[in-house]
Amino acid sequence: MNAWQRCTVATIAVLVLAPAAWAKGSGAAGGLDCLACHGQPGFTDSSGHDIHIDQKQFASSVHGALGCQACHSDVTEFPHKLPVQKVACSTCHSDEGSGVAASVHKTVMSNPSSPACLNCHGNPHMIVPVHDARSPVYALNLPRTCGSCHGNPKVAKKYGLPNVYSLYIDSIHGFALTRDGLLVAATCTSCHGSHKILAPNDPQSRVFRTNIPSTCGTCHAGIEEQYFQGAHGKALQTGVSDAPVCTSCHTAHSIESVRTAEWQLKTTAKCGSCHQGRAKTYEDTFHGQVTTLGFVVTARCWNCHEAHEILPASDPRSSIAPANLTKTCGNCHGPVTKSFVSYDPHANPRDRRHYPGLYYTARFMNLLMLAVFGFFGLHTIMWFIRSMIERRKSEGKGEKAASE
Ligand code: HEC
Ligand code: HEC
Ligand code: HEC
Ligand code: HEC
Ligand code: HEC
Ligand code: HEC
Ligand code: HEC
Ligand code: HEC
Ligand code: HEC
Ligand code: HEC
Ligand code: HEC
Repeated sequence: MNAWQRCTVATIAVLVLAPAAWAKGSGAAGGLDCLACHGQPGFTDSSGHDIHIDQKQFASSVHGALGCQACHSDVTEFPHKLPVQKVACSTCHSDEGSGVAASVHKTVMSNPSSPACLNCHGNPHMIVPVHDARSPVYALNLPRTCGSCHGNPKVAKKYGLPNVYSLYIDSIHGFALTRDGLLVAATCTSCHGSHKILAPNDPQSRVFRTNIPSTCGTCHAGIEEQYFQGAHGKALQTGVSDAPVCTSCHTAHSIESVRTAEWQLKTTAKCGSCHQGRAKTYEDTFHGQVTTLGFVVTARCWNCHEAHEILPASDPRSSIAPANLTKTCGNCHGPVTKSFVSYDPHANPRDRRHYPGLYYTARFMNLLMLAVFGFFGLHTIMWFIRSMIERRKSEGKGEKAASE
């Protein structure tokens, strides 16, 4: 349609359809009245912008029964005043409205002509229930909806945010949701909430450090409970700033299956990043040597300590409490004796206070080695000197013989 045609359509619409709309609308402009003009396919405004509304789609939307004026309440006469006011969804949905207004998105989603809501809910004339598969906020479609910004490299760069969408899609939750259609898998809003989404450093955020275990725990309830029984959960509750939370070991968006060798190697190192002394002694043992070589079948930290209900050795319920060691080690070594479990997986030959036997044995072995190497070293040097002297002597004799 060219400008002239558009102008004609608009004029005809106003002149011909307005009285019709008036007639039908019995004074007040109802939904049907608006569609007398806006229901015409190809109906555009003076700048050529399509302002046609699909009557069928609107009728089947959640707001279909409410009519146009429920939202466009300022349009009360024909031809109507322009510009039409911005729609305030929050007059009816006040909780969602105040949620978004208090969220991290309040400024980035504000737009002088349309409500922030449309960034996630899409076309305002086609809104369907949130559990309808056509909704942009339906669980299976949601990552793509948030990803329209959080998977956009330009947005990531401008706001200094990671490209969360691609991390999530390749994670175990993303796989479960998008490949297997597992609706109970975590999607963006399971962890962030839907409307009052806050930055991770806001103490009220569901993903603020200390709130993470209960957020993951909405689905992994059993693990949350074990975690809070264990030393890490207890430390978190008492305010220890470097106590690990779920994401310290599992990450937030790149969560992997815990059964891959790669993850297990990475996580062993992760435990070690906080428990450096223990990691060092572990590396020196059979189990640790095999780990560093890359084999998978060996004892990793959590095979002896548990992954979530980690307890100190002094706690009788602990998997490493002396009375429980035969069972813990026996999980892999079969029925084992008390003497077998006296092998200390963290024995440190450099620690005289805790491991005096090992310390002195190691010292003795070192000394012995030094003595042996020293003795043979000296022996070799002296032998070398002697052979040089012998050679000189024999060369001297040879010269004498030649000159004679
Ligand atoms: C007689 C025809 C007619 C009827 C009936 C009519 N409109 Fe319009 N409407 C128009 C035209 C023409 C325009 C484009 C004006 C322009 O050129 O910008 C328009 C534009 C609009 C716009 C866009 C305004 C903007 O700022 O971009 C909205 C919103 C709108 N109408 C809502 C309604 C609603 C709601 C009703 C019913 C209560 C309604 N209209 C009834 C003809 C009509
Ligand atoms: C649930 C609230 C809601 C209802 C009901 C509603 N609208 Fe709208 N409408 C909006 C919002 C919000 C916008 C702003 C859209 C944007 O920013 O793209 C809008 C925009 C428009 C526009 C301008 C389109 C554009 O692309 O600029 C027209 C025309 C319009 N509405 C007509 C109607 C008509 C006709 C009806 C009834 C059949 C109706 N609306 C019902 C919320 C609603
Ligand atoms: C950042 C994206 C986002 C924005 C912005 C947003 N919503 Fe939502 N909204 C969602 C998601 C996701 C759901 C689905 C929640 C669920 O499945 O429980 C939802 C659900 C809803 C529901 C259904 C009831 C409920 O709370 O579950 C209503 C109503 C709603 N939104 C209205 C609004 C309104 C009004 C606005 C603007 C003030 C808005 N939303 C802005 C993402 C958003
Ligand atoms: C005049 C009041 C009113 C306005 C304004 C309004 N809505 Fe609604 N909305 C409703 C009603 C009523 C329902 C149906 C509720 C139901 O079925 O439980 C609804 C349903 C919804 C739903 C589906 C909720 C669900 O449970 O699945 C969403 C999403 C939604 N509205 C978003 C919006 C958005 C976005 C806007 C602004 C563009 C808006 N609404 C403006 C009254 C309104
Ligand atoms: C229209 C684009 C857009 C959409 C859609 C969007 N976001 Fe955002 N989001 C942003 C921008 C831009 C920021 C940065 C805001 C700032 O720093 O002021 C942001 C910030 C955030 C933050 C806080 C980041 C931080 O470190 O401060 C979280 C969390 C977040 N969004 C989650 C979501 C989720 C979950 C969804 C979907 C339900 C979503 N966003 C949908 C654009 C969007
Ligand atoms: C399993 C829970 C979970 C899911 C699912 C999830 N997030 Fe997050 N998200 C978090 C946590 C926890 C943080 C806090 C930062 C951290 O620990 O890395 C976070 C941080 C963020 C941030 C801020 C990043 C930063 O470094 O500042 C954005 C943006 C974000 N998420 C968006 C999303 C989007 C978009 C989706 C869906 C595609 C999503 N998240 C899915 C848990 C989740
Ligand atoms: C200190 C590191 C650490 C922390 C903190 C942690 N996990 Fe784990 N998680 C692990 C390890 C290691 C495994 C693998 C256990 C195994 O293979 O037996 C695991 C396994 C899992 C599994 C798979 C369980 C299975 O048997 O299939 C889930 C789910 C899980 N963790 C969720 C969580 C949640 C939720 C939290 C927070 C409440 C959390 N984790 C905190 C290290 C941790
Ligand atoms: C909405 C529910 C939900 C939330 C919230 C949730 N998860 Fe999950 N998670 C699941 C489901 C369902 C699976 C199983 C996926 C599969 O097996 O394909 C899963 C799988 C996992 C696995 C892999 C287990 C394995 O067998 O290897 C880990 C690890 C995990 N989640 C950690 C977390 C962490 C950490 C958080 C919080 C940051 C979290 N989850 C939040 C539902 C959730
Ligand atoms: C982010 C740092 C961090 C990570 C990662 C971490 N821990 Fe811890 N761990 C702690 C803190 C803090 C405590 C509590 C110490 C305290 O209460 O004095 C603790 C306590 C423990 C305890 C109890 C010992 C005691 O002194 O109470 C064991 C055993 C333990 N962690 C093993 C592990 C294992 C196994 C992993 C890996 C699966 C791991 N930790 C990962 C920081 C960490
Ligand atoms: C083969 C089993 C085994 C493995 C593997 C193992 N540990 Fe231990 N760990 C023990 C036993 C048994 C003790 C108690 C005896 C001791 O203090 O040496 C212990 C003690 C600890 C303690 C002190 C607990 C306390 O109550 O004071 C920490 C912390 C610890 N280990 C961390 C780790 C970390 C981190 C790893 C992995 C790098 C690891 N362990 C690997 C068996 C193991
Ligand atoms: C997850 C299984 C697993 C657990 C639990 C485990 N080990 Fe092992 N351990 C192995 C494997 C496999 C080997 C063989 C060498 C290797 O690959 O690391 C081994 C080797 C050893 C060795 C040296 C070789 C041998 O068989 O004499 C000793 C000693 C040992 N473990 C002691 C322990 C003690 C003590 C515990 C309990 C505190 C324990 N292990 C717990 C899997 C385990």
